[in-house]
Amino acid sequence: MEYISRYDYEQMTAETRDERMAWFREARFGIFIHYGLYAQLGTGEWSQANENYTREEYEQLAKDFSPKEGCAREWCELAKKSGAKYAVLTTRHHEGFSLWDSKVNPYNSYNACGRDIVREFVDACREFDLKIGLYTSLMDWHHPDSWKCANDPEARARFLKYIEDLNTELLTNYGKIDILWYDVSCPMGNCESWDSVNRNARLRKLQPHIIINNRSAMPEDFDTPEGHIHASDRDWETCNTLTRLGWGYIDEEQSAPFAISSKQILRDLHLCTCGGGNLLLNIAPAPDGSIPKDTVDRLLPVGEWLQINGDATYGQKFRTGPVYSANTLTAVSADKDLKTFYLWNWVWPKNGKLIFGGYLDSPKKISFLATGEEIKFRVDGHRIILEDLPAEVPDKITGVTALKMEFENAPRHIFRSYYPQMHQGTDFSEGYHKW
Ligand code: GLC
Repeated sequence: MEYISRYDYEQMTAETRDERMAWFREARFGIFIHYGLYAQLGTGEWSQANENYTREEYEQLAKDFSPKEGCAREWCELAKKSGAKYAVLTTRHHEGFSLWDSKVNPYNSYNACGRDIVREFVDACREFDLKIGLYTSLMDWHHPDSWKCANDPEARARFLKYIEDLNTELLTNYGKIDILWYDVSCPMGNCESWDSVNRNARLRKLQPHIIINNRSAMPEDFDTPEGHIHASDRDWETCNTLTRLGWGYIDEEQSAPFAISSKQILRDLHLCTCGGGNLLLNIAPAPDGSIPKDTVDRLLPVGEWLQINGDATYGQKFRTGPVYSANTLTAVSADKDLKTFYLWNWVWPKNGKLIFGGYLDSPKKISFLATGEEIKFRVDGHRIILEDLPAEVPDKITGVTALKMEFENAPRHIFRSYYPQMHQGTDFSEGYHKW
């Protein structure tokens, strides 16, 4: 076995990070798929722990595990149609059931019903041109050593080997994998106990371009704020559910009223975009692997919208931060060079007028992002004024209208002023605040 110091390992991964992360920094949107035995219970992916099922009771679910033909293809097709650039599948959640033909974990989908769901997923990702993410839990409610490993050195050695063997299978047998998405480093709290440096170093040899998230008790390549959007200085990806109830399947009819709308998905996507991060949005297939219709109905308009307004989010963006809103009803994202701004309008003005304050330079052009149709505007002081806009919301897909505002050079900008009257008569010709 090869060993490496944490220092050397982190130097090594830092050196290749920009190259490995390049696609992720432009992708912006991914779909998370939580599928496992827990779907059958309909009480979320934590059922086994929350409801205190014994190992033997819970194992019975494997007998009824019967994903319908082609379900993984449906997940990936939906991800693609939603505008996502990548997908992440829970290959083995905390319940310990592997969704592939594992030689080290007989508690798996192949032994249950002759299906290698990971294979099907990976194939479908390739068919739909999605980057491939494999989620892998460190916490395990099935393996006999998974909890003993906290205090028993022999159990720990066995369990760490088990974890490494599982991930070695995933990173050896399925071709190129883009993300290794760890979860829950319980019961040990630090990377030394998990031996994460050495394991990750060995796993990286199998897939040198892979990116790894921050949940193996090490920062690795990117942060994963969960259930909230939090821009950090590092690369990051917010993961969230549609219903904000749970990650695993819950009765569609009763959970649907909790789900966020297509519009709200776009709002989350905007916040991630302007904070320089990604959104990994979860879908929770039903026991047979089918996607609840309600989920499809919310995601498809997002994809349709992104197909014509994608420039507002995909690609390298400037970290404008939420504070750079154009006005309360319109938010901003901007290309890296700050010459092109995108205005995401949440609430359309019925009086045909939109005003964006704080720009000290005049745009050369403003247009509807979806159609390219130009919009008349005038500049008054440090205000850009759009008048004679249509009375009806132009975007018919989600009601979020995106405008594109182009400048010759990155505009000087004063943002909004806390004391507008303070600026009366001020000469801004020398600028006030640069981006
Ligand atoms: C959590 C949960 C888990 C879920 C994950 C997604 O840590 O334990 O159930 O899969 O977050 O980020």
